[in-house]
Amino acid sequence: MKKIHLIANWKTNPSSLKQAHKLMDGYRLEGISPRLNLVICPPTIFLSGLTSKFQGEFFWGAQDCFWEKGGAYTGEISPLMLRLLGVRYVIVGHSERREHLGETDQMINKKVKALLREKLVPILCLGGGKEAKSPKANIRQIVRFQFERAFEEITQKDLAENEFLITYEPPWALSTVSHNRPASSKFAAEAAFYILNLLSAKYKRDFAGKIPILYGGSVNSSNILTFLKKTNLSGFLVGGASLNPKEFSQMIKLVS
Ligand code: PGA
Repeated sequence: MKKIHLIANWKTNPSSLKQAHKLMDGYRLEGISPRLNLVICPPTIFLSGLTSKFQGEFFWGAQDCFWEKGGAYTGEISPLMLRLLGVRYVIVGHSERREHLGETDQMINKKVKALLREKLVPILCLGGGKEAKSPKANIRQIVRFQFERAFEEITQKDLAENEFLITYEPPWALSTVSHNRPASSKFAAEAAFYILNLLSAKYKRDFAGKIPILYGGSVNSSNILTFLKKTNLSGFLVGGASLNPKEFSQMIKLVS
């Protein structure tokens, strides 16, 4: 049975460790199907407080990382440090970082390479950023450009030795922007197919087909099954809905 990846991206929420504990307490994490790969990405500051208390059939993720192992880089956290915190997955190139933090494709490429070196799993976000914010933007051109730069100097061998996830994330469909209006399943499916073709052109086709392609943008319990039924997507990056324990537990149940 095909694996489905469900990634909770808490972004800069909640505002205290106590509330983070409450959120975790509210998730129904028992009886998760082996089909489901659940990853929870809290703010880094809460990771040690959470990983020491909550363990189970899910993985911890981070929302970003730096590309060097250590050194004079004020404010940054290296993949190695994240691994020590119990992290396995790391979101890279999220639309909000591209837009608000000026994260460039070159930086994203360095981060992806650093994660692969450190045997952490990148969740590479494509399709985001300021220039992609209008639904009229040339999505293919933007995705292709970001794809080519993110995968620069990354060989099939590098990927074969690691797990790797890609998320297509149109910024205009993020819940905070669209007020919970996702892209249509047809649109998300076409974008995922386009990414698959880019992968197939760069790497061997049968190998490319094994890299899971996810969608992110206003996914919740009322639309997740439509996405699953009407697309070939391998999972979802969930922001807003993951901050509501009832809602997110329902999503876990629906995909299990
Ligand atoms: P959203 O966010 O589910 O709130 O739209 C998705 C994401 O940005 O990861």
